[in-house]
Amino acid sequence: GPRIFSGVQPTGHLTLGNYLGAVRRWVEVDQLRGDALFCVVDLHALTVEHDPARVRRLSRQAATLLLAAGLDPERCTVFVQSHVDEHVRLSYLMECTASDGEMRRMIQYKEKSAEAARRGESVRVSLLTYPALMAADILAYGTQEVPVGADQTQHVELTRDLAVRFNQRYGETFVVPRATHPEVAARVMDLQDPTSKMGKSGQGRKTGVVYLLDEPEVVRKKVMRAVTDEGGDGGVVYERGARPGVANLLDVLAAFSGGEPARLAEGYASYGALKRDVAEAVVEGLRPVRERHAELAADRGYVDAVLRGGAERARGMARPRVDAAYRAVGLMG
Ligand code: TYM
Repeated sequence: GPRIFSGVQPTGHLTLGNYLGAVRRWVEVDQLRGDALFCVVDLHALTVEHDPARVRRLSRQAATLLLAAGLDPERCTVFVQSHVDEHVRLSYLMECTASDGEMRRMIQYKEKSAEAARRGESVRVSLLTYPALMAADILAYGTQEVPVGADQTQHVELTRDLAVRFNQRYGETFVVPRATHPEVAARVMDLQDPTSKMGKSGQGRKTGVVYLLDEPEVVRKKVMRAVTDEGGDGGVVYERGARPGVANLLDVLAAFSGGEPARLAEGYASYGALKRDVAEAVVEGLRPVRERHAELAADRGYVDAVLRGGAERARGMARPRVDAAYRAVGLMG
């Protein structure tokens, strides 16, 4: 099968967006059909102001959640980015391949640097160079497919550009990867602000964000209070542009129950009935993940052993290609 790589940042608690946009497909599709690696990208979490203890705790929680969601260490490689030095080694060569202009064009950089400025914080250089590290994550493994949510498309496009440029300058070294996305729910929106992405970052728990470890009662409350749109009298219709709140709920429902969002809409006369079904679908969909997480969180030894084994395998896969890249650019080796 194809070589597959993807990752998740431990900058906050994992959300329904992470699950539907990425993790669930890693479990149900990618680990079964490919030679796949999944990574908790802890180095990326240092690109914004961070609390060391929190990053450490969230890294362990993210890794535990990936296993709880069903990633099987017999079928794929699960590891933590900072355990494998090759990511940082290659990141530097990517910084020497990219231009500052293409880094500054990244939407995530523009948004997060503006956010830091609003809070009166300085912008870390690593926030700008973030895509170089992400490109290194992907290219170190000869990755063909990168299963991500829609928000990561621009970063994967830049990774492709860097791979092509490097190969042209220094000789064939990297495979040029492509992004893959789920058919529905590639962009889950915030329940309170359905024009922006449901995101895990930021302090404090947000009422528009469903976290994978939320209790069922909390999930129900968040879904029932989701912002819907004006003009619901004509029934429930699927219109992403005009009715983003309702469309988002229908996307989430479709992701869990199957079927087309637009067809599902036909079955509802009111927003209340739709919300009740969405709430139950989410609660039931996340229940096994939450329960398995509780079991695994009590078994630190197991999770640690998986991560150690994963890092060792990942190192073995990345090392030869990164060494080759070092030689190709003219380093003595
Ligand atoms: P991150 O940590 O923000 O998100 C992890 C994955 O979840 C997806 N996702 C969403 N999908 C749908 N709707 C949403 N609201 C939503 N929010 C997040 C993301 O698209 C992603 O697939 N830069 C990456 C991490 C990364 C990476 C990599 C990914 C670092 N190196 C190499 C792939 C390959 C990020 O910030 O993801």
